[in-house]
Amino acid sequence: MCGIVGYVGRQDAVPVLLEGLQRLEYRGYDSAGVAVLKNGTLRTHKAQGRVRELAAELPRRVAGETGIAHTRWATHGAPSDRNAHPHTDAGGRVAVVHNGIVENAAELRAELAEDGVVLESDTDTEVLAHLIARADDELEAAVRAALARVTGTYGLAVLDAREPGRLVVARNGSPVIIGVGEKAMFVASDVAALVRHTQRVAHLDDGELAVLDAHSFRTSTFDARATAKTTTEIVQRPEDYDLGGHGHFLRKEILDQPEAVAGTLRGRLEPRFGTAHLGGLTLDARELRAVRRVCVLGCGSAYYAGLAGAHTIESLARLPATAEPASEFRYRDPVIAPDTLYIAVSQSGETYDTLAAVQEVRRKGGRVLGVVNVVGSSIARACDGGIYVHAGPEVSVASTKTFTCTLVAFALLALHLGRIRDLGPAEGQRIIAGLEALPGQIGRILAAEEEIAEHAAWLGEARGAFYIGRVRGYPIALEGAQKLKEVSYIHAEAYPASELKHGPLALVDEELPTVALVPDDALHEKNRSSVEQVRARGGRVLAIAHRPLDGLADATVVVPRSEPELDPILLGIPLQLLAYHAAVALGRDVDQPRNLAKSVTVE
Ligand code: F6R
Repeated sequence: MCGIVGYVGRQDAVPVLLEGLQRLEYRGYDSAGVAVLKNGTLRTHKAQGRVRELAAELPRRVAGETGIAHTRWATHGAPSDRNAHPHTDAGGRVAVVHNGIVENAAELRAELAEDGVVLESDTDTEVLAHLIARADDELEAAVRAALARVTGTYGLAVLDAREPGRLVVARNGSPVIIGVGEKAMFVASDVAALVRHTQRVAHLDDGELAVLDAHSFRTSTFDARATAKTTTEIVQRPEDYDLGGHGHFLRKEILDQPEAVAGTLRGRLEPRFGTAHLGGLTLDARELRAVRRVCVLGCGSAYYAGLAGAHTIESLARLPATAEPASEFRYRDPVIAPDTLYIAVSQSGETYDTLAAVQEVRRKGGRVLGVVNVVGSSIARACDGGIYVHAGPEVSVASTKTFTCTLVAFALLALHLGRIRDLGPAEGQRIIAGLEALPGQIGRILAAEEEIAEHAAWLGEARGAFYIGRVRGYPIALEGAQKLKEVSYIHAEAYPASELKHGPLALVDEELPTVALVPDDALHEKNRSSVEQVRARGGRVLAIAHRPLDGLADATVVVPRSEPELDPILLGIPLQLLAYHAAVALGRDVDQPRNLAKSVTVE
């Protein structure tokens, strides 16, 4: 979704801003723009489409020492040059880039129009530029005055031609990160735009504003009380955002999983005691023992990972555990029980619905742990504590390695909760041995890529597909279907295998293949009989199993066996490759599927 980049320093701002925008492309956007200040003159250029189109349209002479830039994902007003950011006031003095939503924009637009202001765009953001310019004060004071009139969410960056060499940024619900460089300051909504320039960053908190020049920055609350801000070192590396010889980030990230899973496990296993060491939980053994129920919240693939995680917690810790879409939870006025532990799951740590669910729990006095990939993100900071997934940056819009690593993080949490309760050390050691074997086992599945690509070729020709799994397999089936939908645009639905006969079977024929998870577990025979039901209706079946199924399915991908609680982690891997190769065969834009954004920061 929308992205912000800002620069103040001695170099020419334009290449820094354009490169920063390119780094944010993975988030999804429909238009882009830059505004730069040179010798007291503000120049703004905007274009619908890709950053490279904006770059191509920029006059050669455009340069500046201070600048802001934006990638827009339309909310108010269609994607167009006119609606792209930066937005300026009527005099072209103040420029604003903004992520989030000004909720009272309609009211403010009407008020400005009544005063004779001609609004050039259909956006909510433009009102900010007019309000700031009309405050007719120093930029910092003018931004404060404008924000006092605004309700909604924002991360924003502002330039004023009267104050060259200065940027003002503010945050309320949408990330703003300051990058500290050598005689230069950077601003971005995502560290991806900063990693090439600096490793030292400061995250603004909600309700904070910062004033930056080339040498320093200072932060304060909206009502002008100075705040103390420490900088931190970022863990991301520039090469995390390069293709590294792969055709697509999606494939790079799928193949990266042995290393990513090793990253999730690193330093967290305690084989001697058969438990996991999780430093960020903030709840001690006594507090965790008092937990009677677990409720996991997340959206999309993060929700599916939460469903799988809830199963693992229930199995290992014998605690009742459920998962719910955060987007629904936040609106149903949930009862927050004091002995329930809430867990928010998010790759980006910025998903608005998940953040709102966390805030709802905390408002009602509940305790929330985060299982989050992006360090220092809004959700991670809003939770009481948690586990970082440490999958490394995920650039492709469709989640793969973070999904897998989130399941691993849940296994660690379940082990920790289990060992505090009734899980014996030998059982804990069994799980630890299973976890340690995962990177190698994932590597073996990935080595079968060519074979899986052959199955993807026929799956890619289908009008739709079913994915079925039982109990632990069902969340994996949901995620498998989601991956196929997202990147290949083939209609795919997941069902618990047990539910097929209660309705969906009516759709099965020669043209609707089924991908069936048939692990060698206690439900193996039940899963076999579901496969038979599909084949009896002429449906083709691709099975993902622990051993060849003797002609039961049309084709079988064999995956290594793990511990039953960890099997879902491995069963999901071939489904990612299946979706990727089906999408490539169909010529889809696999890294940036249509209509989707990497981080959904609006409702
Ligand atoms: C699917 C996918 C989405 C996200 C969802 C939540 O491939 O990426 O379904 O899982 O939008 O995003 P995060 O995990 O960033 O909260």
